[in-house]
Amino acid sequence: MNWLTVVVLLFAGASGKVDHIGIHFPDDATNLLERTFDGGPGSKIINGVPSKLYSRPYQASLQVYKNNVWNHYCGAVIIDRDVLVCAAHCLRKYPAEILRVEVGSLNLQAPPLKYTQFLEVLAYQRHENFSLNPDQGFPNDIGLIFLKNRITYNENVQPIRLAPPGLNFDNSECVISGWGLTNYLGPAASPVLLEGKVRKLTYEKCVALHLEVDATIDRNHVCVLGESGDDVQPAGGCNGDSGGPLMCEFKRRRYLIGVASYVWDYCDVNYPTVYTRVSGFISWINRNKDLYSNLDGSSEEQ
Ligand SMILES: *[C@@H]1O[C@H](CO)[C@@H](O)[C@H](O)[C@H]1NC(C)=O
Repeated sequence: MNWLTVVVLLFAGASGKVDHIGIHFPDDATNLLERTFDGGPGSKIINGVPSKLYSRPYQASLQVYKNNVWNHYCGAVIIDRDVLVCAAHCLRKYPAEILRVEVGSLNLQAPPLKYTQFLEVLAYQRHENFSLNPDQGFPNDIGLIFLKNRITYNENVQPIRLAPPGLNFDNSECVISGWGLTNYLGPAASPVLLEGKVRKLTYEKCVALHLEVDATIDRNHVCVLGESGDDVQPAGGCNGDSGGPLMCEFKRRRYLIGVASYVWDYCDVNYPTVYTRVSGFISWINRNKDLYSNLDGSSEEQ
């Protein structure tokens, strides 16, 4: 295993390019995680550890009704009572009518918790300039999900602050989370929310790494790499983590830095997981946030 990795890295160093390594959206697979109450196949972040109750109250699961069941297929992040932020590429295959959002849960194959809420999706909005071009790193991979009804906040359901443009989180230790695959090659056994510590790389480092995959990226891409330790394998995102959060802290406050966009190769943790930088889209989010806010007076008052 380690030997193979070394060979690939050496090869990369010698030739400058590795043809077989590509970048792709982690959701581009048939790995839907069925939302059931009684076990079955599931999936999780690579080399992650289970999230504790109350620790990721901003994490949501975006689900599609397909094959007569609800299936988790992307992550999303609560930013307001009726708005979540997500990746644009999660918002293109299915119409809003067959989507729902689940918040307040950890295990997608256990009965709902008392914190759990299921919310119908009213509409969604992708960034207008989102592109499927891998040579540019799928730019502007961000979108908003609008709910029909408001979320009720509780200890395990809370919004997260968007990172302001001025804060620099370079080299910070941050946390990624999601219900994505633990292994690209097949569904793993756990349906629980997993998280992993990652380091936010500098923009320059992110650009340099992308030379290897022949992609030009922009300031709104954020690369993270899993941290390894004595007993810890580096964490990384994979199928099913898309649209989910990259959270960093500053002065003990938590900020949403990014939403999961794409991975390299087969979710190889030796390469970065790439997030869309939300602080580059604050004005876009604010402009679009009220687009579908058609909540009536009665629900405003709650
Ligand atoms: C999309 O790109 C066009 C052309 O560069 C630009 O004029 C426009 O402002 C962009 N739209 C958004 C929402 O950023």
